[in-house]
Amino acid sequence: MSVFDQLFAEAKAARETAYVPYSRFKVGAALLTNDDKVVSGCNVENAAYPEGTCAEAGAIAAMIRGGSSSIKEVVVLADAALCTPCGGCRQKLREFADEDVKVHVANLDGLKQTFTVGELLPAGFQLEEQN
Ligand code: THU
Repeated sequence: MSVFDQLFAEAKAARETAYVPYSRFKVGAALLTNDDKVVSGCNVENAAYPEGTCAEAGAIAAMIRGGSSSIKEVVVLADAALCTPCGGCRQKLREFADEDVKVHVANLDGLKQTFTVGELLPAGFQLEEQN
C-alpha cells in the first residue's frame, strides 16, 4: 500500500470517530511522522463552539504523545468538495512540517488536491532563535 493509501485509510477511519453534534461535519486527519508512524485525529466539538478542536490538532497531539517530532506527509479527509485545513491548523502543521511537506485533501472517494505546507501558509510565522 502506498503512503497516500495508508494515510487515506487512517484518516477515513479517524473521521468516523469525530464528535460533531453541532456542525455534523466529520473530519479525519492522518500524518506520516519522521519515524514512519501513521497517526490520526478527528474533530471534537464543544457546546462552547470555539473550544472545539480540528482533526489536524488531534492528529498532532497523537503524534507528540507517541514520541515523534515532525511530519512528513498529511491527509485531511471530509465528505466535502475540498476540505482544506483552516488557518489555525496551517500554522499548527507548519510547527512540525517543512514547507515542502505535502498535504493531500481528500473526500470519501479519494484524493481531490495536493498542496504543500508552504502553499497553504506562505510566509508563515516562525519564532527566531534568541541569542
Ligand atoms: N474542521 C476540521 O476538523 N478540519 C478542517 O480542516 C476544517 C474544519 C472541523 C472544525 C469543525 O468541527 C467542523 O470541521 C466544521 O467547521
